[in-house]
Amino acid sequence: MATITAILATTHHPFFYRASTSPPESRPDFTDEWVRKVEAYRETLTKAKPDVLVMVGSDHFHQLFYDNMPQFLIGKAPFYNANYYNEEREFGLPRMLLKGHEAFSAYLLRAGLDAGFDFAFSNELHVDHSITCPIITTRPQADLPIVPIYTNIFAPPMPQPQRFVQLGRTLRRLIEAWPSEERVAIIGTGHLSLELGGPRQFGPHGPDPEFDRKAVAWIANGDIEGALREVTLDSLWEPGNATHGFLDFMLMMGVAEGAKADYADTLDLFHTMEAYFTWYPNGVDA
Ligand SMILES: [Fe+2]
Repeated sequence: MATITAILATTHHPFFYRASTSPPESRPDFTDEWVRKVEAYRETLTKAKPDVLVMVGSDHFHQLFYDNMPQFLIGKAPFYNANYYNEEREFGLPRMLLKGHEAFSAYLLRAGLDAGFDFAFSNELHVDHSITCPIITTRPQADLPIVPIYTNIFAPPMPQPQRFVQLGRTLRRLIEAWPSEERVAIIGTGHLSLELGGPRQFGPHGPDPEFDRKAVAWIANGDIEGALREVTLDSLWEPGNATHGFLDFMLMMGVAEGAKADYADTLDLFHTMEAYFTWYPNGVDA
């Protein structure tokens, strides 16, 4: 059976690539600390020696729109074009081509249907920065095949928080039952408090530091019950208009089955808090 070698849950910041690749004289002053933290975080994946990456993210209205909006979708393609023109233009992100793992996608799709998750699927998904940013931070050589899983965190009505947790728990079970000798890392990306385009965007810190403090504690401690007690689809509007991305962190807490994170780090950037968590369900070599 497959082994889950690492579970990573992280924010995804589209400015990291440009900040970290610009020459020293034009780097924002927070860059060096950011790069140090990202490189330390990358090491948590590297030492888990994965063969394949399950990537949980969310389309930012690049491919999926209100004419046909899936709640949960699995990509099932041999290759994925990655990043869009506006991400190139606004964030300086490179266009990428990521290898897929069709057999693993097909397995998760079939097994998910049989386990009560009627996933949508796409044989020609063009993924965006919710997948590429974590690749750039944790596996910049982009050499491993991926299975992308998209969740709806932007287009109401969305599934309930409990459903995201259940999906995480189900993915854990299904991946561990995959008849394969491959080493799987599952990397999910979401938001803490976040405001996009509203009056609290680009403030001196994230729009709701108190929410961020609680959210980081829930994730680091694997406190699924604590998060479920306080987080509802309605309550997530309060910390910022894009805070529903926290649902993907709840999904990842489900994958980790409520365990305490083995690695937790944060970085208070202006306008947002970056956060990095890793679990090793089967331990890891030092
Ligand atoms: Fe995003």
